[in-house]
Amino acid sequence: MPQIFDRSSNALARMSLVLTGLIVIALGVTLDQLQRSPWVTRQGQRPDQPVPFSHKHHVQGLGLQCQYCHTTVEKSSYAGIPPTRTCMNCHAQIWTNAQLLEPVRNSWYTGQSIVWTKVHDLPDFVYFNHEIHVNKGIGCATCHGQVDQMPLMYAQNTLQMEWCLNCHRNPAKNLRPTAEIYNMAWEKPAEDKPVWCAAVDDKYGVPTAQSVSCTRTDPSGDASAAASLTPLALLRPAALTTGGEAASQSAIQVQYQKFTSQDDLGHFLLAHYKIRTPKDLTSCEVCHR
Ligand code: HEC
Ligand code: HEC
Ligand code: HEC
Ligand code: HEC
Ligand code: HEC
Repeated sequence: MPQIFDRSSNALARMSLVLTGLIVIALGVTLDQLQRSPWVTRQGQRPDQPVPFSHKHHVQGLGLQCQYCHTTVEKSSYAGIPPTRTCMNCHAQIWTNAQLLEPVRNSWYTGQSIVWTKVHDLPDFVYFNHEIHVNKGIGCATCHGQVDQMPLMYAQNTLQMEWCLNCHRNPAKNLRPTAEIYNMAWEKPAEDKPVWCAAVDDKYGVPTAQSVSCTRTDPSGDASAAASLTPLALLRPAALTTGGEAASQSAIQVQYQKFTSQDDLGHFLLAHYKIRTPKDLTSCEVCHR
């Protein structure tokens, strides 16, 4: 339409198109960053809680196990938050006058549960299950960080889809023996810190989660090291230890294999825990049903 607009307005139009484009891109980038920012994911934040409960004091200090309070983590999708009764097991006697514990005593006398603020909270349209993760060798600390060192709970990871997929694409890098899932200080195998593992054959009917036994002490070493190999008891399937004649045969002969890298251990566990392929584990229906 040269009769109405001269050449300069053409340039102007082009310029404003480019500008609009740039603004849209900038907005997109900002929104994307915002969506990943800790402000949105609440990663690393310590929400206000009715009681300043310290995992550091109770786990590292007093040596309580995670399962003492999160009783269902191995057998249900939810780990579970302990009822007031669990706290009163001790706090009926200890720190009975502490102001900090007033909400706990109050909850006990009134029967009203303490309302904890959730630190981890996936959207409802996502399916997540603790049971399968811990029974296939993913430790609490891999997802939640070193909880035993947290005076107040916070989320170590974003829990965004990308974070889940990142592991589902290559679970081997995070697998450990299931006996170590509660170990907050578990270290991956290395040249100077090897791990020895043995596995029992399918045919003995040992549950998958118990089919592998690992140790940090060289099983071929001296007698005292061999004697400390209690995990072997785990490998004695119930069918053999309880069943009549078979009971006299002690543990099944197992061969220990030495691992000096996470890669090797990961692939060994991948096979014995029968973990699906990355393709299966990243298909949408796994998490969105
Ligand atoms: C004495 C009881 C007790 C023990 C032992 C305990 N916890 Fe907790 N845990 C709690 C309570 C109470 C809460 C809720 C308050 C909070 O978030 O701090 C909680 C919260 C959590 C949360 C966050 C829940 C949320 O809202 O998303 C995680 C993760 C967690 N615990 C992991 C662990 C791990 C891992 C261990 C073992 C290393 C452990 N806990 C041991 C009592 C316990
Ligand atoms: C096995 C016994 C035991 C259980 C179970 C227990 N506590 Fe404690 N708690 C203690 C002891 C001992 C202390 C003192 C720790 C210290 O000062 O080192 C303490 C301290 C505290 C404190 C004071 C602040 C701190 O961390 O030092 C709070 C708050 C507290 N507990 C809350 C709870 C809550 C809430 C629960 C239940 C989810 C709970 N406790 C379960 C033994 C227990
Ligand atoms: C594969 C990652 C992963 C592992 C391993 C894992 N968790 Fe969780 N945990 C999560 C996610 C994700 C949530 C949030 C679930 C939701 O919002 O539905 C969560 C939530 C929790 C909660 C809050 C209550 C609940 O059940 O939603 C507790 C307590 C907890 N985890 C404890 C543990 C303990 C103890 C272990 C180790 C035995 C553990 N978790 C292992 C990812 C994990
Ligand atoms: C550190 C590794 C890791 C992380 C992080 C992780 N997963 Fe998994 N997930 C696994 C492994 C290993 C399995 C077991 C696969 C198998 O048995 O084939 C699994 C299995 C699953 C399954 C299959 C359960 C079933 O019953 O079929 C679902 C659903 C799932 N994960 C959801 C999630 C979600 C949602 C997240 C993020 C919030 C997540 N996972 C984070 C490692 C992980
Ligand atoms: C391992 C588990 C897992 C798998 C597999 C998975 N998702 Fe998700 N997805 C999630 C989680 C967790 C969220 C929630 C993210 C959040 O809260 O930020 C999510 C969120 C979403 C959302 C909401 C938008 C958003 O980003 O928040 C869409 C859409 C989505 N997923 C689509 C898909 C599609 C399509 C596939 C298959 C290609 C898929 N997902 C596979 C775990 C998974």
